Amino acid sequence: MRTHSTIAAIIVAAACAVGMPSGQAASLDAGKTSYNGNCASCHGPLIAPYSAAQIRDAIRRNKGGMAILSALSDAELQNIAAYLANPNGNDSDRLFNWAEGAAPSLLSPRAASQSAAGYYLRHYSDTNVYLATQNGRVYYYDANKPANGVVDLGSISDWLAQAGL
Ligand code: HEC
Repeated sequence: MRTHSTIAAIIVAAACAVGMPSGQAASLDAGKTSYNGNCASCHGPLIAPYSAAQIRDAIRRNKGGMAILSALSDAELQNIAAYLANPNGNDSDRLFNWAEGAAPSLLSPRAASQSAAGYYLRHYSDTNVYLATQNGRVYYYDANKPANGVVDLGSISDWLAQAGL
């Protein structure tokens, strides 16, 4: 359970740390806001992932009356597409950013988020460890100790609450 005590140390150390928003987190947040403002009234809280080009195409074809959205910029559609591909990514990014600030020697160097094997994750190349999220839960993997496997650290919402994010 060494991994759990490491993580407990992160939580304690992070009480004073401030997360740094990344560019990607900003665009996911913007995409969420834009989706909720422009799309949710017809499509509900979330739709499956679509590319910006597919959304533009639906607007051009006036699917379901979507021509009213023709003023949306390509950048906005890209933010929406990024959000649809990673609906929980903004929460994950906030959490990853915070953890990096709290445990800089373990989670080093600061890394970009990526999607792989069904996880949304960051790989820290100095230490060869991973922080990941999937289906609302946070995971940790130490590639130096594969026998430990992928460790479930609890729910994203509990972590966000503990971190005060
Ligand atoms: C006025 C209601 C309305 C709004 C607002 C709206 N949509 Fe739609 N959209 C629809 C309807 C209805 C359809 C299905 C039309 C059809 O199947 O012919 C559709 C179709 C689509 C499709 C194509 C699906 C496919 O299978 O081809 C995409 C992608 C899409 N919407 C994304 C969005 C996004 C993203 C937004 C916000 C930027 C949005 N829509 C806003 C009503 C709306």
